[in-house]
Amino acid sequence: MNKIKGYIFDLDGVIVDTAKYHYNSWRTLANKLGFDITEEQNENLKGVSRKESLEYILSIGGISFSDKEKIKLAELKNSWYVESISNMNDSELLPGALNLLKDIKAQKLRISLGSASKNSVRILKSTGIYDMFDAIIDGTKTTESKPHPQVFLMGAEALKLQPEECVVFEDSINGVKAANDGGFISIGVGSETTLNHANFVLPDLSGTSVKKIEKRISNMYQILDK
Ligand code: BG6
Ligand code: MG
Repeated sequence: MNKIKGYIFDLDGVIVDTAKYHYNSWRTLANKLGFDITEEQNENLKGVSRKESLEYILSIGGISFSDKEKIKLAELKNSWYVESISNMNDSELLPGALNLLKDIKAQKLRISLGSASKNSVRILKSTGIYDMFDAIIDGTKTTESKPHPQVFLMGAEALKLQPEECVVFEDSINGVKAANDGGFISIGVGSETTLNHANFVLPDLSGTSVKKIEKRISNMYQILDK
């Protein structure tokens, strides 16, 4: 078993409570186009880039638009989303996120962001945690969308670590798949049923620590070695 030296975090739905704002904004757009999207369909939108999310939503509604119109629709959704995060502060950090980040820093381990969002820097700054990240890989730097592992592979590279030396925290099915396919240890954050492909799942980050995560991983390997 490798010593875990790097911690890679998805942003929306893992560190900050913004997944609901993405869902609300996409839902508003769908409603304006004359249809609705369900929470179940929204699970497939998590972790996916803005452009691909729009394609998926339009396929649900069975509507097609020109590329130019699609750019406008994506901008419209983003304007509502940005409006909903405009007054964001540290109260939107999800339970346990700040404590875990502090614990990782205190132990001199490395932290990267691995998010599809192009709004990530704005969010990290407004919640006051920007300086805790050694690397920020987000939708402004990637060319592939989760479930492709690119975002996490770039994160590991930026931390100068191998995937096997890093864990990935993810709240999306696509993100867990990306982490698994990239050779990372995947920790699902959320529902055990939804994220059943993760190496293990935590309901949220509260009460967890580097020590507890290391123990969980070592238990996992002991079972595998039997
Ligand atoms: C991901 C979210 O983190 O970022 C998706 O889970 C979102 O819902 C994607 O579509 C892109 O975000 P943004 O902020 O660039 O529109
Ligand atoms: Mg997410």
